[in-house]
Amino acid sequence: MLQNWAQFVLAVGSALANPLISRQYATDDFGANCASIASKLELANATVYFSQFVAAGQNLSIPDRNVTCGAPYQAVSADLCRIALYVATSNSSGINMEAWLPSNFSGRFLSTGNGGLAGCIGYDDMAYTTSLGFASVGANNGHNGTSGGAFYHRPEVVADFAYRSIHTNVVLGKEITKQFYGSPHTKSYYLGCSTGGRQGFKSAQDFPEDFDGIVAGAPAVSFNNLTSWSGHFYNVTGPPGSETFVPAATWATIIHQDIMKQCDLIDGYADGIIEDASTCNYNASSLLCGSSNTNSSSCLTPTQVNTVQKVFSPLTLSDGSLVYPRMQPGSEVVAANAVYNGKPFIYNVDYFRYAIYNDPNWNPLAINDTDYIYVSNKNPSDISTFKGDLSAVQVRGAKILHYHGQMDAIISSENSPRYYEHVAATMGKTPAELDDFYRFFRISGTAHCMGGDGASVIGQGLSSFQSTDPSENVLMAVVDWVENGNAPETVVGTKWVNGTKSVGVEYKRAHCKYPKRNVYKGEGDPNLVESWECVEQ
Ligand SMILES: *[C@@H]1O[C@H](CO)[C@@H](O)[C@H](O)[C@H]1NC(C)=O
Ligand SMILES: *[C@@H]1O[C@H](CO)[C@@H](O)[C@H](O)[C@H]1NC(C)=O
Ligand SMILES: *[C@@H]1O[C@H](CO)[C@@H](O)[C@H](O)[C@H]1NC(C)=O
Ligand SMILES: *[C@@H]1O[C@H](CO)[C@@H](O)[C@H](O)[C@H]1NC(C)=O
Ligand SMILES: *[C@@H]1O[C@H](CO)[C@@H](O)[C@H](O)[C@H]1NC(C)=O
Ligand SMILES: *[C@@H]1O[C@H](CO)[C@@H](O)[C@H](O)[C@H]1NC(C)=O
Ligand SMILES: *[C@@H]1O[C@H](CO)[C@@H](O)[C@H](O)[C@H]1NC(C)=O
Ligand SMILES: *[C@@H]1O[C@H](CO)[C@@H](O)[C@H](O)[C@H]1NC(C)=O
Ligand SMILES: *[C@@H]1O[C@H](CO)[C@@H](O)[C@H](O)[C@H]1NC(C)=O
Ligand SMILES: *[C@@H]1O[C@H](CO)[C@@H](O)[C@H](O)[C@H]1NC(C)=O
Ligand SMILES: *[C@@H]1O[C@H](CO)[C@@H](O)[C@H](O)[C@H]1NC(C)=O
Ligand SMILES: *[C@@H]1O[C@H](CO)[C@@H](O)[C@H](O)[C@H]1NC(C)=O
Repeated sequence: MLQNWAQFVLAVGSALANPLISRQYATDDFGANCASIASKLELANATVYFSQFVAAGQNLSIPDRNVTCGAPYQAVSADLCRIALYVATSNSSGINMEAWLPSNFSGRFLSTGNGGLAGCIGYDDMAYTTSLGFASVGANNGHNGTSGGAFYHRPEVVADFAYRSIHTNVVLGKEITKQFYGSPHTKSYYLGCSTGGRQGFKSAQDFPEDFDGIVAGAPAVSFNNLTSWSGHFYNVTGPPGSETFVPAATWATIIHQDIMKQCDLIDGYADGIIEDASTCNYNASSLLCGSSNTNSSSCLTPTQVNTVQKVFSPLTLSDGSLVYPRMQPGSEVVAANAVYNGKPFIYNVDYFRYAIYNDPNWNPLAINDTDYIYVSNKNPSDISTFKGDLSAVQVRGAKILHYHGQMDAIISSENSPRYYEHVAATMGKTPAELDDFYRFFRISGTAHCMGGDGASVIGQGLSSFQSTDPSENVLMAVVDWVENGNAPETVVGTKWVNGTKSVGVEYKRAHCKYPKRNVYKGEGDPNLVESWECVEQ
């Protein structure tokens, strides 16, 4: 007895001094609060399924996750309360959402986004952001799984996908955060890429109250025209074996090498990375087979040269009006197996068949101007997300950090400056004026959202995390901007040796704020940030 009593006194005594132990006591309360919150939450139109304490270090099992969304588990690195619910968004649709509420709460609320056409909760982003102290929410975008089949004859499900899932999960998520912690969040943030980047801009355009800080990567804005563009490659290349088709190995070898030969030195240093892909006006005619080169593995037929030129030309209607910018050179190694592979592209086919035409037999190979015009005009629930007036964001003092990888093979990086210029023109502002609330960074050597040949690690996700230093982490950069007024001038990216964090850092590079571009100074170790500078176009 005495021994137990003595241990008790010791434990209480050291709890006051030892943060680890005091945290343990807090965690017990936290776990109990978490277990009971499901039955206490008062939320309109919602059905709370469960609340569950998840301990730091747990490999959380998610058995009912749709198989197309990824593996049914998620490693979690913070003690948190997981709450799962269903929210009706119309009389024929609704979202499944989760709130992950960390015990070491920073006061900051955050919504994650989605990708592609997918109805998949971004568990990895929730694990990432809760590890940084955010109360995080994520939703299934109104349907389950990666396909667009759920849109078929269901305009309300399309509306959830276009805007309502994120907005609903933000409104409910803030309320859940308040009821759980007993006081409202301090600041509200958004982190997303691709479709998630579009969702960030949708919030900025139509729900400016939702966030104080937005990180929007590789945004799928001009969404209808983007799906036209994604789909038009199949028509350009034809199926494998067609005269027009260029095999993946050819893209990955001679075409990629020829692009580097013509464009790698524009930034002053030949490292296989094109800093600003918009400077590369690649011309494939040098690869034309001729009397000196007749080997079909190392040269192109005139028809194939034409295919390559079309891929790197903007998609226009026959009257010349723009549908969507060209693919930027530099992405071809990945694009060869994604959009140049002579197969229908899922985001195009599913969106056109199920959200646009309600015709499962629509033929992706014959895509043409009629389709481009029809989808752009139909624009369900204004999914286009191309409004240029962001003044409501500016007026309330919210901030937007926009980034785009310069070797993106899924969404052309050239659409991002187009949107930026559209905002500038609509609002009548110079880049220096936009800097007040909206900054855009071109991230060289970076594929779609993450990965790539260069300094692609900028804290945009769990697998692309080097540091919480705001200079190297886009999420913490926007936090520092919102809360301390420290606006980012550059975004420092890291390249890991062999792309593997545990092997170490190969180099870092400071990516420039648009419209500036990054160039090598001509001397100094190119692996050092200081050997490069941001210059005017
Ligand atoms: C989580 O569990 C799954 C299934 O057992 C396993 O494949 C995965 O590697 C685990 N992840 C971690 C981070 O432990
Ligand atoms: C609940 O759903 C109804 C019908 O869909 C809607 O009119 C109402 O605004 C919703 N309530 C809230 C708080 O979202
Ligand atoms: C569902 O909502 C739509 C649009 O608001 C309405 O036209 C329809 O009558 C409603 N259906 C039912 C069964 O309530
Ligand atoms: C709690 O979060 C703060 C930053 O918000 C961090 O400095 C601290 O180490 C965290 N504590 C624990 C126990 O995780
Ligand atoms: C989606 O999956 C969840 C389980 O994660 C399930 O509760 C929900 O009913 C599903 N929604 C649809 C529309 O199939
Ligand atoms: C899982 O996702 C796929 C692809 O989106 C879909 O076809 C399927 O119906 C989903 N399964 C369940 C059980 O919802
Ligand atoms: C590509 O180069 C060839 C040969 O120099 C030239 O004839 C052609 O006009 C160029 N094409 C483009 C699109 O610039
Ligand atoms: C044709 O080019 C390929 C790729 O450069 C090379 O591997 C192959 O040996 C060449 N064939 C001949 C007959 O030169
Ligand atoms: C989409 O393409 C159509 C057809 O060229 C064009 O009228 C429309 O402005 C484009 N939309 C955007 C957002 O660029
Ligand atoms: C591309 O579409 C056009 C118009 O629909 C069609 O005539 C052409 O055959 C298509 N190209 C291929 C490779 O099928
Ligand atoms: C162009 O697209 C429309 C709409 O999908 C289709 O009906 C038509 O057959 C296509 N034109 C050609 C020449 O294939
Ligand atoms: C990096 O990868 C290359 C090729 O796979 C291998 O030869 C090299 O040993 C790796 N380096 C390290 C440090 O792991």
